[in-house]
Amino acid sequence: MQDQFGRGIEYLRISVTDRCNFRCQYCMPLEGLPWLPKDEILRYEEIVAIVQQLAPLGLRRLRITGGEPTIRPALATLVGMLRAVDGIEDIALSTNGVKLPAMAEELAAAGLDRVNISADSLRPDRVAAIARRSLDFDLVRAATAAQDAGLGPIKINVVVMRGINDDEIADFAALTVDHPWHVRFIELMPVGELRDLTWEHVVPSAEVLDRVRALGALAPDAGPARGNGPAVYHRLPGAAGTIGVITPMTHTYCAQCNRVRLTADGRLRTCLFGDHEVALRDALRRGEPLAPLFTKALAEKPKEHALLQMQVGGLRALSQVGG
Ligand code: 5AD
Ligand code: SF4
Repeated sequence: MQDQFGRGIEYLRISVTDRCNFRCQYCMPLEGLPWLPKDEILRYEEIVAIVQQLAPLGLRRLRITGGEPTIRPALATLVGMLRAVDGIEDIALSTNGVKLPAMAEELAAAGLDRVNISADSLRPDRVAAIARRSLDFDLVRAATAAQDAGLGPIKINVVVMRGINDDEIADFAALTVDHPWHVRFIELMPVGELRDLTWEHVVPSAEVLDRVRALGALAPDAGPARGNGPAVYHRLPGAAGTIGVITPMTHTYCAQCNRVRLTADGRLRTCLFGDHEVALRDALRRGEPLAPLFTKALAEKPKEHALLQMQVGGLRALSQVGG
């Protein structure tokens, strides 16, 4: 499965819901978003049918995302169904981690390989301020539960915001010394409902790494063995884990892009930004073959995103497009 620029597409991110139990400042307004009605959301059988048709074309790795995927009922059932599809080698989950202490064992038993946890603060009062709900989230507890269930290598995603959580960069980086965790700092992107966030809140990754160097010299590192994405990794001396940066704002890694996205309502999106998408759900429900639609979507996959040229706002939240 190759796109018009010869990029092999073997990685699909599957959004199973547009809803979330958090309301992160950079993603969702406090009152929520206009949620998709239930009948517009793909049923598990429909998600699996799409994966079954993509696997023979070269699809190998899946990531389940949202919104927050763990709030969709019986998520482990979906994991088990996807695990049974021939050709699928790796199934990962992106979660805010709130439900991991309760769900990690069950998800691992169903066949989940690993998790990414989004966490923007290690301080309970700040979690509540950034996610605008606390839900008792504690990163170390969530990551430890996932690790104990065998869901490693554990990646932790931190969206860095100047004046909001950038004073915790060293604390997050220090977690990698004793834990085999991979902390990735993400540059804030101008998507969704930013409200009070502006370009001034963006901290370039080069600056993040400079601040991490206060803890020790950083050596380039290959990062976790099973990685799909655009992060670039480093390691502190003798550290068990690594430190990565993801630089949507200061670099573009689009030339290596290996992914497409499936929205909760069954649209195949070939780029996170812009409106490159092909609706699959209705064709699937009519029993039509999807291969021609996949071909069309890949033929239209853009060369790169235009994030840097865009104004703040106006774009859809990552929760709506399967970030
Ligand atoms: N800027 C940067 N990262 C974002 N995420 C969601 N919205 C934004 C944004 N506006 C992150 C989440 C998660 C990952 C899938 O994307 O925190 O870690
Ligand atoms: Fe929920 Fe993730 Fe959006 Fe936060 S960033 S509101 S955890 S979907």
